[in-house]
Amino acid sequence: MQNSSALFVLDKNEHSRQIIRSFTENLEFINEVKLYSDYKKGIEDLKQYSDPIVIVDITDDNSDLNGIVDNIKLITSKIIIISMDYSTNTIINALRLGVKEFLPKPVLQEDLVRILTMFASVSPEDEDSQSKIITVYSNKGGIGKTTIAINLAIELAKVTKDKVALVDLNLQLGDISTFLNLNPPFDVNYVIQRLIDKDDDIFIKGFEKYKDNSLYVLSDSSYIEQSGSITVQQISELFRKLKKVFSYIVIDMSSSIDPVSLKILDESDWIMFTTIVNIPAIRNAQRCLNLFRSRNYPDDKIKLVINRYMENDEIKIDDIENTLGEKVYWKVPNNYFTIMEAINKGVSISEINPESNIGSNFRDFAAKVSDDIIEQAVIQYRTKV
Ligand SMILES: Nc1ncnc2c1ncn2[C@@H]1O[C@H](COP(=O)(O)OP(=O)(O)O)[C@@H](O)[C@H]1O
Ligand SMILES: [Mg+2]
Repeated sequence: MQNSSALFVLDKNEHSRQIIRSFTENLEFINEVKLYSDYKKGIEDLKQYSDPIVIVDITDDNSDLNGIVDNIKLITSKIIIISMDYSTNTIINALRLGVKEFLPKPVLQEDLVRILTMFASVSPEDEDSQSKIITVYSNKGGIGKTTIAINLAIELAKVTKDKVALVDLNLQLGDISTFLNLNPPFDVNYVIQRLIDKDDDIFIKGFEKYKDNSLYVLSDSSYIEQSGSITVQQISELFRKLKKVFSYIVIDMSSSIDPVSLKILDESDWIMFTTIVNIPAIRNAQRCLNLFRSRNYPDDKIKLVINRYMENDEIKIDDIENTLGEKVYWKVPNNYFTIMEAINKGVSISEINPESNIGSNFRDFAAKVSDDIIEQAVIQYRTKV
């Protein structure tokens, strides 16, 4: 089935805008062609349309390409980048932004129509976002959730070079900003409260880029009193927006099981369910896994992570797996001094000592997560075609 869409052309060159109009105005699946030299205005108008297609020319000015594409991606993923410069670098940059289509200028009618036809046969609901929400959870405090969320996210950004978000949804007692020594201009509560305003600028600006990584951090609030009023609907809306912009979204959260926490867990693709090796922690983990089972989570959603692992522990991995009825997905070694130094200096473990047992462990952990996600995507793709 073909859907009918509006086509937005953001191009500084009048002549080239008109050419694209002439190529496309008689296509039955394009119901309107809108031309803009002012990109900001185009993006503003875009918000009024459902499932639009956008062509963006980046020949003249691609200094803020990142920001432009991020804003468009919040509304549609049907984006075509066009440019007079079609060096390998430009094309790779476009693909890195998560834009799937690139055409050199001058655009050929045949190429453009081919892409538009393909877009028209995909409805927004069919679009299977490949992005994954990975939530680090434990129903006990002090287990290492924040440590794992932060270091996994940083290493994921390094290993994949994809856009990774680290989001602090420990809404009352978040501490990512302390762990990473950040001073966010907007905090997570502020951003969540404004999601429905369609003010996508706030959404994007809420994130602080972490050093020269492709990691973007949305961190905790310093205003505890603001956090009570967040609803489950706001969590859904937040996740929907995150998935449009980021390839991997790593969530740190509290250990409570209230409706908002359950919503976060329900809507996560993967839960890095973390425990340490001692009897009370494992008992707790058992209860929590029963809860997950009662919610019918798919088998591969729960990844059991053992933190502060020591080879010579009295309780063996086999015992844990037998007790919990769950295979261990990953073990993070115990290394109190390196972690404490990282926390005290407000940096990641890899910045303290990348070659320590725990530094290399997080690198391998991230590589495994990204390999497994890609493998899962390939399997899903194969079963579809
Ligand atoms: N693998 C580890 N080895 C040694 N200490 C750890 C490890 N992981 C976490 N810790 C320590 O445990 C404490 C709690 O960690 P944190 O990440 O804040 O847990 P949570 O977010 O679950 O409350 C921190 O002081 C941290 O240094
Ligand atoms: Mg924590």
